[in-house]
This record gives sequence, structure tokens and C-alpha cells, in this order.
Amino acid sequence: MTADTGDFTPWLRDFEGAALLRWTWGDPDWSRGARLAPALVRSLQRFQVGEDGDGRSLTAKADRAGDSVYADAVRLFVAEEREHARLLGRLLDAASAATIPYHWTDTAFVRLRRLLGLRAELMVLMLAEVVALSYYRSVRDGVRDPLAAEVAGRILADELRHVPFHCYRLRRSFQRSSRLSRATASALWWLLLAGTVTVVALDHGHALREVGVSRTAFIDDVMARFRTVVADVMSPTR
Ligand SMILES: [Fe+2]
Ligand SMILES: [Fe+2]
Repeated sequence: MTADTGDFTPWLRDFEGAALLRWTWGDPDWSRGARLAPALVRSLQRFQVGEDGDGRSLTAKADRAGDSVYADAVRLFVAEEREHARLLGRLLDAASAATIPYHWTDTAFVRLRRLLGLRAELMVLMLAEVVALSYYRSVRDGVRDPLAAEVAGRILADELRHVPFHCYRLRRSFQRSSRLSRATASALWWLLLAGTVTVVALDHGHALREVGVSRTAFIDDVMARFRTVVADVMSPTR
């Protein structure tokens, strides 16, 4: 008997709908220009690199998982992350700042993900998604520049859909796991989250300050979101 990996048709439709909406809205008005504090520019440059992964490793694993609807949804997910990189690139450009070719945090993250199978890769990816939720919300709500607030708001709207999408797949991949393996996976997942959020809070602390969020408030927010994710994925009753 094979595990029930779920029906991804609604998720695929959701990604298609979001793509159509993006096409209808068009781009923000880049000609307005943006005025961003240097710390925020440096921070957005790093997030821009992070969003710009090619997603080949993830789509290859999704293909091998044998559900073509899921694989199609993953391709649209990857396209949305690339769209985030494009939006951030244009925002930096509007603020007369360049994009950067790489940052060690992203290189480390991508290398780690490539070593893993689909489930573990999704678990690592989820760390970035949860961090992104808190980060883009902080920027949207705290930045004075209207163009930056609009870009952060658009990205946040997508990240809010990405988290339940990955939760749905992960929950199914754990449904036949024993209590012990769930508990072990949860503990490891929390350890990775603790490491990730510490690095991000240290690396982006000045930018977060700039948008009125302390490092501790950021860490608390990420942890609260992650708690919900872990409960959702590991809950045996669902
Ligand atoms: Fe993203
Ligand atoms: Fe995302």
C-alpha cells in the first residue's frame, strides 16, 4: 500500500490563479523610485539572492515523487520564488542599489537542500518560508517607503500560500510515521529553526531595527509561526 500523498489539484489551481492575478495587476510603478536605509538595502540584497534559486533540485525530486499534479504545482511555486527575486531586484534598482551575486547564508542553504530527499528538503525549505513570513510582514508594516511596502506586501501574500502548500505535502509524508520518528523529526526541525533564526536575526538585525522590530521580537514571531507549522505537520489525527 502506498501512502496517500494528497490531491494537489486545488493547490495547482491556486498557483495558476495567483499567476493570472499577477498578470492582471502588472508591476508596481517602479518609476516612483525608492528611498531605503543602507541596512535595509543590504538585507534586501541578501533576501533577493535567497529568492533567486533555480529550483532544479526541488522540481527533480517532485518529478521523482510520481505525482504530476504536485510536480506542476512545485514548478509554479519555484516560478513564484523567482518572481520574488525579480521584484526585489527591481526594488533595489529603484533605490539605485545593485543586486549581489551570492551570500554565504544562501550558498550554505542551497548546498544543504541538494543533499536531501524531497521530505527533508521541504522541511529545510519551510525554515526559509517561515522566516520570510515574519521578515516581509515586518518590512511591509514598518518601512516608510511606499514602493518597498508594496513589494513586501506582494511577496508576503505569496509566502502566506506557500507555507500551507508545503504543510499539506509534509503532513501526508509523516502520516504513517511512528510517534518516535515524528518526535525525532520535530526535535531536529526545531534545532535547525533555532540555528536559522539566530543567523537571520544577527545578519539582519539592523534592517529589522530600521522597520521597528527588535531581534527578540523577530525571533519570537518566527518561533510562534513555526510552532503552528510543526503542530500541523506532525499532528497524527489529521
Ligand atoms: Fe519567496
Ligand atoms: Fe515562499
